[in-house]
Amino acid sequence: MTVRKAVIPAAGLGTRFLPASKAQPKEMIAVVDKPGIQYVVEEAVRAGLDDILIVTSRNKSSVEDHFDRSLELEHHLEEAGKDEQLAEARAIPDLAQIHYVRQKEPLGFGHAVFVARQHVGDEPFAVMVPDEIVPPPRDDEIDLMPKMLEVYERHGKSVVAVVEVPKEEAVAYGVVDPEWVEDRVARIKDMIEKPPLEEAPSNLASRGRYVFTPQIFGALERTAAGVGDEIQLTDGIRILAEEQGAYTYVFDGIIMDVGKKLDYLKATVELALRRDDLGEPFKSYLKELAPRLD
Ligand code: UTP
Repeated sequence: MTVRKAVIPAAGLGTRFLPASKAQPKEMIAVVDKPGIQYVVEEAVRAGLDDILIVTSRNKSSVEDHFDRSLELEHHLEEAGKDEQLAEARAIPDLAQIHYVRQKEPLGFGHAVFVARQHVGDEPFAVMVPDEIVPPPRDDEIDLMPKMLEVYERHGKSVVAVVEVPKEEAVAYGVVDPEWVEDRVARIKDMIEKPPLEEAPSNLASRGRYVFTPQIFGALERTAAGVGDEIQLTDGIRILAEEQGAYTYVFDGIIMDVGKKLDYLKATVELALRRDDLGEPFKSYLKELAPRLD
């Protein structure tokens, strides 16, 4: 069955990005000049996923406002003859069919995915974490989500994106125990959330892109609170992998975690350098800056 829907869980408290995330959703913090979550909606659309469910919570209404029309702004831009900005403002609500559901309590990432079950129904779907940005591919770069959909279609099983990192870094994520079936694709024998270093089964750290069969909901229903006393998606995947089988895809392209401060700074630089309008002058500035860094 073709995957049409993407779920974007955006109901977390964003404590790693305080104080910026105190009174505004961390998903709305701009990376260059665009809220992080807009990059992720655009990425979903690139992969043909144009039915998007955003899981929100209290204090996140600016996410809904962002993807809605702003008639006053449009009127103002029209009057002022600012055609380019007008076109940009009008394009945002037309990006995709965007729906919302609220997670009433921040019970964990796994729980946020679980609250999507009514909207998703009995079909496969993608989960895309808005903290992570995969820029539009250039030249021979691979786009992650289309690749994952291809793996899903070939195997008919859920697919979890991982990246290879030093083992000491992998333990901050869900870590996969792989059984290789083809280049960059493995069956998941097991998956452990934030394991102690000596128990990490590999250096394959899960990153925020998934394709799931609807059976993940049954698995999450039976998932007890785990690390951090939260319902962890990794624990649901563990059940799913055991009962139905699941695969992992090892991505070696660029995926940037904008939910962490240093990685956010790196993402800002990377995305600015890729911009047609800003890339060259920004590169000149960085070159001027470089000798002053010693
Ligand atoms: P994180 O683990 O990054 O949590 O969630 P967080 O609350 O956003 O951030 P920190 O750790 O406090 O800084 C991974 C994804 O799952 C969502 C988050 O919004 C993020 O996109 N999430 C997490 C929920 O939607 N609900 C939750 O209860 C927890």
